[in-house]
Amino acid sequence: MIGKLNHVAIVVPDLDAATRTYRDVLGAKVSAPQSLPAHGVTVVFVLLDNTKVELLHPFGENSPIQGFLDKNPSGGIHHVCYEVADILAARDKLKAEGARVLGNGEPKIGAHEKPVLFLHPKDFMGTLVELEQA
Ligand code: CO
Repeated sequence: MIGKLNHVAIVVPDLDAATRTYRDVLGAKVSAPQSLPAHGVTVVFVLLDNTKVELLHPFGENSPIQGFLDKNPSGGIHHVCYEVADILAARDKLKAEGARVLGNGEPKIGAHEKPVLFLHPKDFMGTLVELEQA
């Protein structure tokens, strides 16, 4: 069911420093920072040949990643995102398999303007999983 790895998201305490590390130390192509108020994050895309890494930093007062940063002050991997062809079919299959879909179970429009869902980390070996309709 899952297709390509769309991105790995890493929460970082200092977006400029993280961007410099990826650009200057690891030699990757990086985007300009983009603030996404609807998602409560500022993101820098690290563009790799086969996938992306997203460096996430809280934006605004009720950022959904602030708690993660409080618990992991030096940052850390937050989620992995897999592409699916049909997000509703994927959701229904996962629910039938007993996996928990976060929120109200309805896809939201994600940071790439495509429908996304998140799956409970306890059902996926401690990893928060995002599904994005490709
Ligand atoms: Co994501």
